[in-house]
Amino acid sequence: MLTIALPKGRIADQTLEVFERAYGEKIEFDDRKLILETENFKFLLVKNQDVVEYVLHQAADIGIAGLDILEERDLDLVKLLDLGFGKCKICVGMKNEDTLDNNAPEITIATKLVNITKKHFAKKAMAVKVIKLNGSIELAPIVGLSDAIVDIVETGTTMKQNGLKVVEDIMESSAHLIANKNSYISKKEEILNLYKIINDNIKELN
Ligand code: PRP
Repeated sequence: MLTIALPKGRIADQTLEVFERAYGEKIEFDDRKLILETENFKFLLVKNQDVVEYVLHQAADIGIAGLDILEERDLDLVKLLDLGFGKCKICVGMKNEDTLDNNAPEITIATKLVNITKKHFAKKAMAVKVIKLNGSIELAPIVGLSDAIVDIVETGTTMKQNGLKVVEDIMESSAHLIANKNSYISKKEEILNLYKIINDNIKELN
């Protein structure tokens, strides 16, 4: 039996839908329960950003995580499949009236995605001071905590409603099916079977 770490949060609903369609079974966690056993799988309900931990440490064989998280954490995991939903961009944002000065001696960036941020600005040979936040990133430039932000942009509404604009795109992201390396060897047949069923199904969905 495969254990699958499902994310709470933005990609949760579509992930459940894909599995429900692919296997024809309802995936419903009882009230506050975080584990669900079905005929085919054991599902774990975990916080979005924590899926990679469960899979990395083999508490789950399989997980669903955004490419942004995979890029940020750069862990030794098997990337099986781009699920094609949960699409968003990682962007640099600033207040509408500001511009990004590529020659500034140092700029301060607020973000959840510290490594992606450092890598991006290192490539541009720009010095940055990074302030790690856990959410509501758009607030930082408004109150003068940072000059800019690096954040997820999906519809663009959060930036817009807070008087911010995108000044640079860093990368595109979407939900990916990932596997633990050891599970990928020891449960190869089951995992490839799952890969095939999900892959056939998302082709229909997208
Ligand atoms: C993300 C991101 C933005 C928002 C962007 O936050 O940090 O705040 O979504 O979406 P939009 O472009 O559609 O407005 P998320 O909902 O993941 O919550 P968070 O505050 O916990 O990061």
